[in-house]
Amino acid sequence: MCGIFGMLGGGSVGRTVEALRYLEYRGYDSAGIAASVNGKLRVYKSVGRIDRLQSVIPPDLDSDRTIGHTRWATHGAVSYDNAHPFVSSDNSFAVVHNGIIENYLALKKQLSLRGTVFTSQTDSETVAHVLQHHYKTDVLQAVIATANCLAGAYAIVISTTHDGNLYAIKDKSPLVVGLSDDGVYLCSDVRCVSRWASKVAVVPDKTVIAVSANGVEFYDYDGKRVTMQYFDAERSETETDTCGDFMLKEISEIPDRLRQVTSGYYADGGLGMPRELALQLRRIYMIGCGTAYNSGLHAASVARAFSDVDIIPVIASEYIYGHYPTDAGTLAILISQSGETADTIRAAEKVAAQGGITYAVTNTKSSSLCFKCRCVNYIYAGGEFAVASTKAYNCQLVTLLLILADIARLRGTLDSARHQRLLDSVKALPESAERALADSARIKRLALQIKDSSAVFYIGRVNDYSTACEGSLKLKEISYIHSEAYPAGELKHGTLALMERGVTVIAICTEPALKQKIAASVSEITARGARVITVAPFTIDGCDGIILPQCDASVGGVIAVIPLQLLAYYAAKALNRDVDKPRNLAKSVTVE
Ligand code: AGP
Ligand code: GLU
Repeated sequence: MCGIFGMLGGGSVGRTVEALRYLEYRGYDSAGIAASVNGKLRVYKSVGRIDRLQSVIPPDLDSDRTIGHTRWATHGAVSYDNAHPFVSSDNSFAVVHNGIIENYLALKKQLSLRGTVFTSQTDSETVAHVLQHHYKTDVLQAVIATANCLAGAYAIVISTTHDGNLYAIKDKSPLVVGLSDDGVYLCSDVRCVSRWASKVAVVPDKTVIAVSANGVEFYDYDGKRVTMQYFDAERSETETDTCGDFMLKEISEIPDRLRQVTSGYYADGGLGMPRELALQLRRIYMIGCGTAYNSGLHAASVARAFSDVDIIPVIASEYIYGHYPTDAGTLAILISQSGETADTIRAAEKVAAQGGITYAVTNTKSSSLCFKCRCVNYIYAGGEFAVASTKAYNCQLVTLLLILADIARLRGTLDSARHQRLLDSVKALPESAERALADSARIKRLALQIKDSSAVFYIGRVNDYSTACEGSLKLKEISYIHSEAYPAGELKHGTLALMERGVTVIAICTEPALKQKIAASVSEITARGARVITVAPFTIDGCDGIILPQCDASVGGVIAVIPLQLLAYYAAKALNRDVDKPRNLAKSVTVE
């Protein structure tokens, strides 16, 4: 993962630190900068958050050429020595890297035989030494030669003492270039540079970049000049505010975001797929990771009620290495809030290579996924910064339901009356979300009661099972309480053995018709001493309950997940966890 940044222009130290604060969601194990001052590279780094880094940077440090990094460790422990930037032995090159250099051990061995001494356990340090090895008189030639030596996934920004330029190389990890009146930016995140840049370019794989006072030049790995297309940067309001608990703020935005998602969908032209294409479909894969996958799982479950096409949810990393029939009759809906998740992007590439139709559903315009897919739709959730995804899930569900309903309309399996009913239910969602949020004081009390549970299980049937999966993921990732989700009927086939005092079960039931079924599960569980909290539009005698607003079954999951997001948030707060930046995780998983 990691966030990388580089700026050529006045005031680059301050701007780099500001950018790293923004990029911290991509990794927060350590951070560092390298500033060029009087022909020398001055490196400052620290373990932990950007505040710590800022405290070690001299306040008067100024430079017009700085690179920076915020790390999510893949190779080597979280430590000062393993923090980026890395410099070559002769201190003439400094690099920051996002990705994994797969052949680093072989390169390290060759360099060690020539006497290079390594100071870290990372794969990334190798790049600085390879650059030094290739440098004769021309930095660009050294950078191109280095790019040709590397295997794996990487975006690397390079600063050097040999000239006044910045360089970068990119293959399979995200990198954008931003242009403004006061400088040129290289960065992992288009939204980050868009705060300063008026023009941005999303850099394609296998590109070398040279940034000088005269402008930006792009080359392929053979050293041939290539042209790059710039587009106008889109600024967004709230995204500069990076203080406080983003997770709670993001949950509280759900009603507003639900108001925007439907209008955004239609303003962008709706499904954007010709009828002939919809008619030729034989199967639809819903592909994503984590919360994005759960939204696909849920939408598939709901849409099976009106679709005649097989809708199959697949975890992106499983699709990449598994055997899933894919052909011209296959639509793959690739779901990703960030649009930068490596597993999802690799899956999109595989679908395209096998002749399937790729369709991105993302929150991030101009993200890498958009460039890999034939059709794109945005979820209009607004910037999401907490590592635990919340409002994006709700917006993903609505967008996916609209897409699947439109396909069913084109294929004639959803008549206009049912389609209209679905749209009316979607329209009612913001108000139901407001009512669900209004119950937060009670949810907070329940969270205080479950925070010391030895384990928390989430159960539900059919659509509620995927809501259970999402509730469980939220709780475990931010509270670190052990948690699993099961289809309610599965519990008695093994997991019931774990029911005892100290265990909590969250039983979700949005379908009043299934009340008796969930009541039976509740008594089986309470008979074994575990405690049950129901999440339903009704109560069940003998256990605590969170009452959901009444919703149509097709959209009930959009609302039922809200108390679960809040429950996880309050439990994590009560345990003093860093809710926005949970341990070992990062917002954007840009490595496979
Ligand atoms: C969600 O709470 C997680 N942190 C994580 O599962 C996330 O949803 C997953 O990594 C996918 O991210 P994406 O939507 O940006 O692709
Ligand atoms: N592999 C590098 C490291 O461990 C970069 C990690 C990343 O991009 O996630 O420092």
